[in-house]
Amino acid sequence: MTEHLVHYQGFWLTPRTALKGLLWIQDHFKPRPTDIFVATSPKTDTTWLKALIFATVNRTRYGFSEHTLLTTGPHDCFPFLDIFVDGNHRSLQDLDGDPKDVLVSKWLFMNKLRPKQLPPFSLEEAFGLFCQGISHYGPYWDHVLGYWKASLETPEKILFLKYEDLKMEPFAVVKRLGEFTGYPFSLEEESEGVVEEMLKLCSFENLSDLEVNKTSVLKFSRDIMVDNRHFFRKGEVGDGKNYLTEDMIQRLNAITADKLHGSGLVL
Ligand code: A3P
Repeated sequence: MTEHLVHYQGFWLTPRTALKGLLWIQDHFKPRPTDIFVATSPKTDTTWLKALIFATVNRTRYGFSEHTLLTTGPHDCFPFLDIFVDGNHRSLQDLDGDPKDVLVSKWLFMNKLRPKQLPPFSLEEAFGLFCQGISHYGPYWDHVLGYWKASLETPEKILFLKYEDLKMEPFAVVKRLGEFTGYPFSLEEESEGVVEEMLKLCSFENLSDLEVNKTSVLKFSRDIMVDNRHFFRKGEVGDGKNYLTEDMIQRLNAITADKLHGSGLVL
């Protein structure tokens, strides 16, 4: 995870993993109408959303006591398309949150993956680059806006979600996910508490406490591996403010207001 980023078609990507995967996808991948994609900017809660979608679309296959998510990490259940390249899914979805939380979560995550022989990556440095749009799959705002606009143009194909909404109204969002992915919850399932069971299964507390997520490793490539536990840190809205200075907060708020101006999107 010390790879330099390259700028390709407006976004910053790691050359040996993300860019390689993307080029392969652009040349060879043939999506099917029933495919489901999760299109998140890193650290905007990909892990939670993958677990919820996997649990939703497969809910008739597994009982909650012997569920695959209890023994397999969310990223192995629902692989990264650009990394594993052979995924198979329907339509597009997106999940984004406050850029302050995203920056801090990303900075803490990248420092955990950084080889010990290198000096720590300072928050000031990460902040400066993030503001210029230089971060994995960044500029963050361009990613968010791209999917926001596409979701307005084709709402039947793209469901735009915010981490904060999922945190605040998980029941309603999971029901929406069920409808959108073509696996709506029946009244009977609702009265049997299936949605609540799924939320419990996919909760931060439950997933982060499972052996597979405490000890197993996710293999991105032959030489890039990430401990599953690094995908679970705090899982709270607003934690970014505990790390950033007042000046940093104001600058990020100003960039966000400027970039989103006129789009109708509020983060
Ligand atoms: P924090 O670093 O703010 O705690 P991603 O999955 O895109 O890598 O995003 C990781 C963020 O999602 C981390 O945020 C992590 O703690 C949080 N997260 C992971 N699993 C979660 C879950 N089941 N519920 C809520 N948040 C979760």
